[in-house]
Amino acid sequence: MQFGHFDDEAREYVITTPHTPYPWINYLGAQDFFGLVSHTGGGYSFYRDAKLRRLTRYRYNNVPVDDGGRYFSINDGGEVWSPGYRPYKTELDSFETRHGMGYTRIAGSRNGLTASVLLFVPVDVNAEVHRVEVTNTSDAPKSFSLFSFLEFNLWNAEDDQTNYQRNLSIGEVEVVDGAIYHKTEYRERRDHYAVYGVNAPIAGFDTDRDTYLGFGNGFDEAAVPHAGKAGNSIASGWYPIASHQLEVELAPGESKAFTFVLGYLENPREDKWEAPGVIRKDGARELLARFATDEQTLAEFATLNAYWDGLLGSYTVESGHEKLDRMVNIWNQYQCMVTYNMSRSASFFETGMGRGMGFRDSSQDLLGFVHLVPERARERIIDIASTQFEDGSAYHQYQPLTKRGNHTLGSGFNDDPLWLILGVAAYVKETGDFAILDELVPFDNDESKAASLMEHLKRSFDFTINNRGPHGLPLIGRADWNDCLNLNCFSTEPGESFQTTGNRTGGVAESIFIAGMFAAIGPEYAALARRRGDDAEAQRADEAVAAMRDAVLEHGWDGEWFLRAYDYFGTKVGSHENEDGQIWIEPQGFCIMGGIGVEDGRALKALDATRERLNTPHGIVLLNPAYREYHVELGEVTSYPPGYKENAGIFCHNNPWVIIAETVVGRAEHAWEYWKQIAPAYREEQSEVHRLEPYVYAQMIAGKDAVRHGEAKNSWLTGTASWNFVTVSQYLLGVRPDYDGLVVDPCIGAEVSEYTVRRVVRGATYVIHVTNSGGKGASLTVDGMAIEGSLVPYAEPGSVVEVRATV
Ligand code: GLC
Ligand code: GLC
Repeated sequence: MQFGHFDDEAREYVITTPHTPYPWINYLGAQDFFGLVSHTGGGYSFYRDAKLRRLTRYRYNNVPVDDGGRYFSINDGGEVWSPGYRPYKTELDSFETRHGMGYTRIAGSRNGLTASVLLFVPVDVNAEVHRVEVTNTSDAPKSFSLFSFLEFNLWNAEDDQTNYQRNLSIGEVEVVDGAIYHKTEYRERRDHYAVYGVNAPIAGFDTDRDTYLGFGNGFDEAAVPHAGKAGNSIASGWYPIASHQLEVELAPGESKAFTFVLGYLENPREDKWEAPGVIRKDGARELLARFATDEQTLAEFATLNAYWDGLLGSYTVESGHEKLDRMVNIWNQYQCMVTYNMSRSASFFETGMGRGMGFRDSSQDLLGFVHLVPERARERIIDIASTQFEDGSAYHQYQPLTKRGNHTLGSGFNDDPLWLILGVAAYVKETGDFAILDELVPFDNDESKAASLMEHLKRSFDFTINNRGPHGLPLIGRADWNDCLNLNCFSTEPGESFQTTGNRTGGVAESIFIAGMFAAIGPEYAALARRRGDDAEAQRADEAVAAMRDAVLEHGWDGEWFLRAYDYFGTKVGSHENEDGQIWIEPQGFCIMGGIGVEDGRALKALDATRERLNTPHGIVLLNPAYREYHVELGEVTSYPPGYKENAGIFCHNNPWVIIAETVVGRAEHAWEYWKQIAPAYREEQSEVHRLEPYVYAQMIAGKDAVRHGEAKNSWLTGTASWNFVTVSQYLLGVRPDYDGLVVDPCIGAEVSEYTVRRVVRGATYVIHVTNSGGKGASLTVDGMAIEGSLVPYAEPGSVVEVRATV
């Protein structure tokens, strides 16, 4: 069952009913100002930090789930309705929401009147624009009232939800020339304010929620639109809101458009007053003037569209398979960009008040957006590396505003350091910017302890070598990529953190997954060292990698697949000897990506076991059998009911590792099938099972042991986005940047018999035509000449290179 459809031409997903199984959302903004918007207009806006600079209020855990947002309502002859269905839930004659690249358009109609609300954050503007276009489709003149509505948040989203004894007394607003200014706490230490204005004369306004709603009413019963008359209320404490009333007259067939602007502005601290108690507003006036006419608004929208054309132009495919093309060309890249912007902070599953930026998460996010905005990738790399410690370990998370490591969580996630190497290697391959390796980067943000980025990578690499256990395998610490495999924690207190409690030290718990990472990522470090002329270091690295591969073959192999770990007592985890959790996905993917067992047939065995025991039509589960009970010696992974999250859920982030592993052994058909299983566009037809947005990946789909097998959770902000883009673009379609050229090495199911990839890298364009019969090992011609191997050398910027590949 579907609740809409893709419009690839427009790069939009079109939702045709308000009654989706869950709010299906989109993101506005790509720089500093952001908004989340659901298909019925729910959601919120913030400036840079979803916790500390929250502009509008949103209630998680609400009933109904998605109530509150930017709401427009129409009173047409006493009948009140909203184009987005919510809040009034009046039945509409038509409803359509289009989520596009950085914008959403919500349109509804009733009784001969259509209202279409376009929401977007313009490029280089700290504001959200709501352009409302109303059209009279009847053959009689219409006059009606249009009401806007949003509810202000008192800036700090967490405090806003907890500190009522103070907050219900501090709200303040000003209303000047029809613009509503939110200035809570401006009288004291804040130098920023919000404004909500409109480019048309208003008939009234409200800023006091109780006046607007009527005390005790929900959004769906708001009194003012029903009365058809604004209260002109001025909030004093309690709950400041912003609502305008516009009186509109339309001849038959006539349309009018109004632009509402929600802006964030800062004033110089020492010059923040216009008059005593009156905020300085020149910034807001300039902002509103930028949207004074509809032409200006539409021009800003065109600029946004051009911005996205540019971003999405560096990797495109044409295959004739529309689902494949739309994932690659549009939605997967879009999700990578959103994930880069948000990290794991604000979604409909992440409140914007929790985690900061993850060291491992951000390093992996780099892989998916480095080709979109290399300059910002560079910045991000320096930020991440600055939170590393001198021994190579790292703060697990850092705060985006301060860029400081997060002390409550600390370090000890022993996979973290290696991800940095992978991210940096991807950046240098994309850009050729070896100079970044010489940048001086502090340790723990202390400038007095700075070293070159290359030195940081060395410490990352050595951290694994220096922290090995009795089998020569890496110690796991608090956890590795799987945050919930906590082998040193032994938590028995409800509510305790599984990751940081760690009440036993001196254990010997080792991770075969980190060993696989070392085997896969270590060679990237060696390659960088070699390219800098440090052959001795490169050789040292190669030897360490070889030793690690041997250790895995000797101590990390269970007979049919790779083991997962050794626990605190030296007992195997992920072995046929275990009762539950006999086989885990992560080492099967990464060990093979690291070349382990590829020559002696173990890789094939492990992949066959993965297929047999872990694969389902909804994706590959994380482990099998699911744990039925809590195991204190394994930690959080066993805390989840069977089939959910890390306990045998389909954790979409790691499916790509198995897919890449299948391409390593050349099994194109398996790789293609696995990729399609979880790709949202391919799951669209079963939206009633999947339940979340069919245009972006979710972190998890419930596994085969779950009550609700096939149901997704935690959409949008997940490493799944970048890993799937890497997988499909670089391994299936097979076009990946290397240091000296573009590797063209397709491995995709025969169903995709022909395709063309256009890749812009380092200023040159490569047009790569592939004829495919499924398999691996393409023969290539470059500008008509046959070449050996799979490397197409980089060409001069500006040139166009024609490549033909036959598999
Ligand atoms: C979450 C975390 C990520 C972790 C994964 C598996 O997605 O953000 O860091 O690797 O869970 O536990
Ligand atoms: C929870 C989640 C897991 C996440 C971890 C750390 O355990 O289940 O996915 O990685 O928290 O935040």
